[in-house]
Amino acid sequence: MASSYDLKKALKDIEAPVIIFENVSKSYQKGTPAISNINLQIRKGEFVFIVGSSGSGKSTMIKLMLKEIEPTSGKVFVNYKDLSRLRNGQVAKYRRNIGVVFQNFRLLKDRNVFENVAFAQRVIGMPTSSIRRQVPAILSVMGLSEKHESLPSELSGGEQQRVALARALVNKPVILLADEPTGNLDPKNSWDIMQLLDEINKKGTTVIVVTHNQEIVNMMQKRVITMNNGILISDEQKGGYTHGT
Ligand SMILES: Nc1ncnc2c1ncn2[C@@H]1O[C@H](COP(=O)(O)OP(=O)(O)O)[C@@H](O)[C@H]1O
Ligand SMILES: [Mg+2]
Repeated sequence: MASSYDLKKALKDIEAPVIIFENVSKSYQKGTPAISNINLQIRKGEFVFIVGSSGSGKSTMIKLMLKEIEPTSGKVFVNYKDLSRLRNGQVAKYRRNIGVVFQNFRLLKDRNVFENVAFAQRVIGMPTSSIRRQVPAILSVMGLSEKHESLPSELSGGEQQRVALARALVNKPVILLADEPTGNLDPKNSWDIMQLLDEINKKGTTVIVVTHNQEIVNMMQKRVITMNNGILISDEQKGGYTHGT
């Protein structure tokens, strides 16, 4: 029954955001910064698109969240951690809570589908018994059960990206970052990947997707952050739910 008081939303509003950019700027060299003075908050369970033309600073934002690079000024907080305070030895562990997929899939060419996904579990020392259970489960969600013995070269682009997604998700990350995940896919495969990202988000993972695909952004009706020349020029919630800021 509909209630005027939405408890779930009220609880979300008092919870600290899972991602915070606080006056973040990044300059790779002297000259124009790649991003300037970005302020941004993303709550747990949100689905957010980051759009903007090439060179506008989208990948720089993703790299900052992964702590692949450091801001020139400002602070990035992810998973309630100030990333500037993470010591080198803690970075690998920090990244375990973040799944990542890229445009070019980045699969291991000489390993089959099962092993590509299992790899993500082996590197964190997951016991074989868990791998045998969890890898087939995520491959099934991605519609890849039949392909578990195939090599990446034997798969279509869409299938390869689903393997990359399975690998990103097998360790149940809190956040999934996708940098142009459909950049190399045709419209049908792009749409399939978006549907999977939506399902993953509905199960609770915070999903952040960088994309050029305006059609997909229009169809999905999610929060859209637009970058232009390193500046955040708009942050809009499409559809019903408004995020608290
Ligand atoms: N490693 C780097 N060294 C120098 N400049 C870089 C580097 N990476 C990105 N840039 C510059 O920073 C700006 C933003 O790049 P990027 O974040 O990759 O944009 P986008 O992902 O939106 O295409 C661009 O002008 C780009 O040339
Ligand atoms: Mg980019």
